[in-house]
Amino acid sequence: MAAVLPERAGREFPYEKRHFESLRALAREEAGIELAEHKRELVYGRVCRRLRELRLDSFDAYLALVTPKGSAERPNFVNCITTNVTAFFREGHHFTFLHDEAVPRLMKARQPTRRLRIWSAACSTGQEPYSIAITMARAMESVSYPWDWKVLATDIDSNVVARAQTGVYGANEIPGYETAEMRRWFQPAGGETNNGPARVQVNDALRKALYFRVLNLFHQWPMQGQMDVIFCRNVVIYFSKEDRRALFDRFAQIMAPDGYLFIGHSESMLDGTDQFEPVGRTIYRLKSS
Ligand SMILES: C[S@@+](CC[C@H](N)C(=O)[O-])C[C@H]1O[C@@H](n2cnc3c(N)ncnc32)[C@H](O)[C@@H]1O
Repeated sequence: MAAVLPERAGREFPYEKRHFESLRALAREEAGIELAEHKRELVYGRVCRRLRELRLDSFDAYLALVTPKGSAERPNFVNCITTNVTAFFREGHHFTFLHDEAVPRLMKARQPTRRLRIWSAACSTGQEPYSIAITMARAMESVSYPWDWKVLATDIDSNVVARAQTGVYGANEIPGYETAEMRRWFQPAGGETNNGPARVQVNDALRKALYFRVLNLFHQWPMQGQMDVIFCRNVVIYFSKEDRRALFDRFAQIMAPDGYLFIGHSESMLDGTDQFEPVGRTIYRLKSS
């Protein structure tokens, strides 16, 4: 008899181990995401929502729809299994380092071109690339000549990229929003509280410095030219060791020799490539050859 998970016999849709295994294989194939065994219930809850939206009556019907290569449902499946937790100025020491050390050093080296390119490689709903942009704008305030700096922000999940592009957030999500210094990067976007607008939008000038794209890190990368800074934080934890290593090696190829790579606080290069050396807490540069 098929193994219906006993602890959830009264489920809305029957969910067997084989269903989870098929979805797991699909997540790996489509996004490089390794779903650990303990994610079985989480996957059930998330995929159930798709079943209801599509008015399907079983996981078998869903698998028949999503499994064929090139199925239009695959991107929706990816959107529902990604974990998009993020925050403005998350892991604050990265932004301090970017402002105080990386940007001044890169600006000295890039005087001839006055051009800097930064990539937020798993940008989720945008808080990370906008935090980078605010940091860049602050770092640029003391220079008298305009610099050509841009932030490319990409993610595999088309829903989060669409949200990120709006640049609209709850004011209460923005640390320090009560200060005039932080408020100047945002404009009111609706709602009222005792302390000001409930919703705010990243200001137009800053938004012009960002480009958003849907991009699977395991597919071809469209950008030409080297990246001066790459933020790839809190995403490789979902990948296999081999995929992590391959990804870091690709970053090494696309990075300027004096560029910086920022990874998440719970991530490590130790089991990955040997092409980088640490220059700060979860901050790396290419090893000089
Ligand atoms: C936990 S969020 C991290 C967001 C942000 N970097 C931060 O640290 O706050 C992980 C993001 O990685 C994205 N992601 C997962 N697999 C991906 C892949 N293969 N290619 C690109 N993005 C991916 C998810 O969609 C999700 O938005």
